[in-house]
Amino acid sequence: MKLVFATHNQNKFNEVKVLLPPHIELVSLTDIGCYDEIPETAQTLEGNAQIKADFVTKKYGLSCFSDDTGLLVDALNGAPGVLSARYAGDQKNATDNMDKLLLELKDKTQRSARFETVIALNINKKQEIFKGVVHGQITTKKAGKEGFGYDPIFQPQGYEQTFADLSLSVKNSISHRGKAIKKLVTYLHQTLSK
Ligand code: IMP
Repeated sequence: MKLVFATHNQNKFNEVKVLLPPHIELVSLTDIGCYDEIPETAQTLEGNAQIKADFVTKKYGLSCFSDDTGLLVDALNGAPGVLSARYAGDQKNATDNMDKLLLELKDKTQRSARFETVIALNINKKQEIFKGVVHGQITTKKAGKEGFGYDPIFQPQGYEQTFADLSLSVKNSISHRGKAIKKLVTYLHQTLSK
């Protein structure tokens, strides 16, 4: 069966593709020629994931899943949260976003935070939601060269390093997205083997 992963991000796509049962033909938004600017207007990660998956299923009549991720900082009442990509502005620049967050947390000792990923899957005429969370804290300065986004300032619980200091395989084994994807893959294996 054909299943759309509602992303243009080839790295995310490849990461998931290798985990799926071989009889699933995973395709991206690029593969189906979908270049629409899908409006992510919901107030929650779950809402935005649903909007993207529903858009594709309605327009193309295909099974589809989409993911949405946010960084929630306790001392900032959950900000940047659903606005993580554009925290410092519409340019969606990772350095600007991190600099803004470090400034907001300047002098704060309470630096706990978590990444959350929500995946919405439309399949067999119903919708399933999968979530993954990783807890940690925001460091006082950037460290590490791997990863993307807020990785250089996020230190997962139980580790001395930031996400950007860990290898991709270690990050995937403990990360928000890794956990949500594992739940999705387990569900697809169970559902499609019936
Ligand atoms: P998206 O929903 O996957 O596009 O994520 C939204 C924003 O959250 C991204 O633009 C990044 O700023 C941030 N983000 C998502 N996942 C990660 C991650 O694994 N590490 C660091 N930042 C992330």
